[in-house]
Amino acid sequence: MKVLGIESSCDETGIAIIDTQTGELQQRLYSQIERHREYGGVVPELASRDHVAKAAPMIEELLGHYGGIEQIDGVVYTRGPGLMGALMVGASIARALAWSRDLPLLGVHHMEGHLLAPMLSDDPPEFPFVALLVSGGHTLLVDVEAFGQYRILGESLDDAVGEAFDKTAKLLGLPYPGGPELAALAATIKHTDLVFPRPMVDRPGLDFSFSGLKTFALNTMQKYSPLDPHKRAEIALAFEIAVVETLQIKCQRALKQTGHTRLVIAGGVGANTRLRKRLDVMTRKMGATVHFPALEYCTDNGAMIAYAGGLRLQAGQRDVDVHDVLPRWSLEDLPALAG
Ligand code: KG4
Ligand code: ZN
Repeated sequence: MKVLGIESSCDETGIAIIDTQTGELQQRLYSQIERHREYGGVVPELASRDHVAKAAPMIEELLGHYGGIEQIDGVVYTRGPGLMGALMVGASIARALAWSRDLPLLGVHHMEGHLLAPMLSDDPPEFPFVALLVSGGHTLLVDVEAFGQYRILGESLDDAVGEAFDKTAKLLGLPYPGGPELAALAATIKHTDLVFPRPMVDRPGLDFSFSGLKTFALNTMQKYSPLDPHKRAEIALAFEIAVVETLQIKCQRALKQTGHTRLVIAGGVGANTRLRKRLDVMTRKMGATVHFPALEYCTDNGAMIAYAGGLRLQAGQRDVDVHDVLPRWSLEDLPALAG
């Protein structure tokens, strides 16, 4: 089955075509980052307008490359969670295409896309596993028993981890999106004596809280004001170490709690080198393994939506009387995927 996937939940327009039999994949990605940078964050209305301008021509180009819409057997799109207007653009285009040609159509959960992105690697993880989803909008630890069988073990009670990176980076005067910028600043030095708290690690459970770290960073900046370049890098490093260690402690706890021996990382923050190294060492010590998606599949993309949606279309799922998008949508509300 050849499936066209459309991702437009935030500030990336992602288009992909996947052949569910052969795994052959082609994709196009357009990032709006430059457009939002001057505002220091994503402006929802600008995001929607940019998806309107970019999605249709990108689909046309990719379809042209593929031999036209006649080659496509199904259409999937991100139905949520995400920005209402941005989601509406992808959903409208997907529906128009599918309805006009009477093709099967399905709305996909954005986080299921992230969760299954590691399956696109050459060495995909086997089930069951613990997934750590770390993006700009979400921080989730999920027990993944099989395709479509997800149990949320823990989540952030306030800021998502990517959001904490972005906000702290902004305080440090770094451009949006601040995560990679902050990581790069931290990497300019080897050591700091500054110690940031590891939120909620002393309590049992697997929930997270990251908003206090941003405040801690602000207080530290004020304490050392005016900041010299070295102290600025130290704050970035101390923040990054605290976040990475907090994530590592909770991942370790989740592996112990579930008895699973595989950890899968997904979402934009999964691109963080310090996190990758730390989880690699931790899992090795435990006799477990950790899987990271290729960097291009860590951040938002159309391939992960085409893949997750393709699996569900193949299992016979379809949108029935669906006309909405779901800016808020829990992973646990997804139907299981038989077979
Ligand atoms: O998954 P994603 O592309 O979009 C969402 O669905 O949110 O994640 C984007 C987030 C941003 O907050 C960005 O700053 C963060 O991932 N990020 C990083 C790194 N690369 C991207 N955070 C820390 N270190 C990185 N290397
Ligand atoms: Zn995402």
